Amino acid sequence: MTDTPAEPVPIPGPRNIEWVGDAETGFLRLLDQTVLPNEVVYLDCRDVKSVWDAIKRLSVRGAPAIGIAAAFGCVIGTQHGGFDPAADHLATSRPTAVNLFWAIDRMKRVTPRTPEALLIEAKAIHAEDAAMCQRIGEHALALIQELRTDPSPPRPISFLTHCNAGALATGGIGTATASMYLAKKNGAKIRVFADETRPLLQGARLTAFELDAAGIDVTLICDGMAGQVLREGKVDVVITGADRIAANGDTANKIGTYPLAVMAKHHGVPFLVAAPSSTFDMSITDGSAIPIELRSAEEITEGFGKRTAPPGVKTYSPAFDVTPAELITAIITEHGAIRPVEAEHVRGTVGSIQ
Ligand code: MRU
Repeated sequence: MTDTPAEPVPIPGPRNIEWVGDAETGFLRLLDQTVLPNEVVYLDCRDVKSVWDAIKRLSVRGAPAIGIAAAFGCVIGTQHGGFDPAADHLATSRPTAVNLFWAIDRMKRVTPRTPEALLIEAKAIHAEDAAMCQRIGEHALALIQELRTDPSPPRPISFLTHCNAGALATGGIGTATASMYLAKKNGAKIRVFADETRPLLQGARLTAFELDAAGIDVTLICDGMAGQVLREGKVDVVITGADRIAANGDTANKIGTYPLAVMAKHHGVPFLVAAPSSTFDMSITDGSAIPIELRSAEEITEGFGKRTAPPGVKTYSPAFDVTPAELITAIITEHGAIRPVEAEHVRGTVGSIQ
């Protein structure tokens, strides 16, 4: 394999977030991720309500992308005469991804609060996220190469990932996927197992879609198959994104991540979390304080318009779970790997930035 390229890896696939026009009259164009991979449809958001709805219904999703969309939503609010109501309303859209609150707080610090000044800040948040993804990929790939024990016979580096922490979820080449795109660009042979990720199938609809479109060898599995795939020794590294990381490294991510970490530990497979510093919440000491979003029953009982459970059955649908720090081999940030995952090391890497 050659060295990591200095050139940024181009962002694959359709653009998920784009500001169109000037600060006074422009609008936010979002790729509607709810209809992927069957259709490529864009939503033009010209008021705060449509940005809020797009976040709530997961047209735009993934922690960094939610923050970026909300930042542009603050510009739209100001166009219509109200930064504060826009910021307050957008903050109620989804509770778990801390990037939402981080981005809104950053927008609150802009002076003067004109559409022009706010648009510059929103675009900066977007561009900085792209740069962070690239750096995360470089650090993650270096660590993966260090951790990997060479299988015999030699085979491609084999990843397992959950949900979508890819280009669609960020301003750049993704967090968990960044090392995959970089490895491919460097000429390494890789393969990726993608959990389908019940109930909204971000792994099947989005990760399989974007990796396949980028020419990466991707194999889709149902969530419940991950244990067997790990037991068969088919995986070198499990890598996921994060929605909120507490000061001790406990990590909230898409529901199903925690059992994956338990299984990875059981099978001696490194479990990595890839996330920018904007995903850390240093105000909470551990994962028990992370608010977990509850989603509607319909997403389980009649997902994608087809009823798959008896009418009226009781449901419980947490959208995220918390993986305790001790199950995480390393958290990869744009500043490097946090390893071992302990409060002291988290503070040392991201503490001074926030
Ligand atoms: O409900 P979603 O699709 O917004 O959940 C997304 C995830 O859990 C991602 O893994 C996380 O936000 C990181 S995205 C880089």
